[in-house]
Amino acid sequence: MSARMKGKVALVTGAAMGLGAAAAHALAREGAAVLLTDVADEAADAVVREIRSAGGQAAFAHHDVTSDADWDAAVERARAEFGALHVLVNNAGIAGGGMPIVGHDLGEWRRILSINLDGVFLGLRAAGRLIADSGGGSVINVSSILGKVGLAEAAAYCASKGGVLQLTKAAALEWAPLGIRVNSIHPGFIETPMLAESLRDRPDANEMREMLILAHPLGRLGVPAEIADAILFLASDESRFMTGAELVVDGGYLAR
Ligand SMILES: NC(=O)c1ccc[n+]([C@@H]2O[C@H](COP(=O)([O-])OP(=O)(O)OC[C@H]3O[C@@H](n4cnc5c(N)ncnc54)[C@H](O)[C@@H]3O)[C@@H](O)[C@H]2O)c1
Repeated sequence: MSARMKGKVALVTGAAMGLGAAAAHALAREGAAVLLTDVADEAADAVVREIRSAGGQAAFAHHDVTSDADWDAAVERARAEFGALHVLVNNAGIAGGGMPIVGHDLGEWRRILSINLDGVFLGLRAAGRLIADSGGGSVINVSSILGKVGLAEAAAYCASKGGVLQLTKAAALEWAPLGIRVNSIHPGFIETPMLAESLRDRPDANEMREMLILAHPLGRLGVPAEIADAILFLASDESRFMTGAELVVDGGYLAR
């Protein structure tokens, strides 16, 4: 363990697997006390155990990011368990691809917006005061390359992630005087359970994967640790002059 995050308390949503679990591992490895939250209790508990057995400090709270009451409870848990909150990683999200606009189910549209966008707003609203009272800190909102460019049949996902980008900028301006930095991160396609699930039921899964790889000039998909490293950078003082920024980590996808 090293100590880039020593003395800091972090809350990571959607931390049971994928990018959230990798971010929680990275923050704990660098000395932060991490509250992992998710709706997938067993998987999140397993990540907490891994972090602890590696010598890190971690706890878990069941938390649906669409629930205001769950947000209040999670923030209170961070305060009660670790005494402060300096870093919030708004990571929980769902994909819900493959839906043409004509015929798109309104309930599904609302579900995607509610988790991916409302969840980030509720998180900012619930955690802002404690982060300010803790002396300021860093919020990292996980958007996507699809918050910056479109993808056919993914209108709700693109709209939600574009919303996260703009919400981030508004929050960055509002909270700069409080010493709270707010940045968005825009991963390319990363090997996580979300991606595996998106491809699983497609008859053309292999061709799709090849197409996705070709869309990344570095010639491969990303792995969660590569996004976790960027989240760690935004969480740490190394990014102390960054706020309202869009950190793209995408193997060159957006460079074309
Ligand atoms: N994997 C990619 O290619 C990729 C690319 C760009 C952005 N992202 C974004 O990164 C974030 C993490 O994605 P991932 O690939 O690790 O996904 P994942 O599906 O592997 O993990 C997401 C986690 O969020 C949790 N979650 C889902 N709904 C929730 C809710 N209502 N409340 C709390 N937790 C909830 C899930 O239980 C799961 O543990 C998402 O916001 C996603 O949109 C992913």
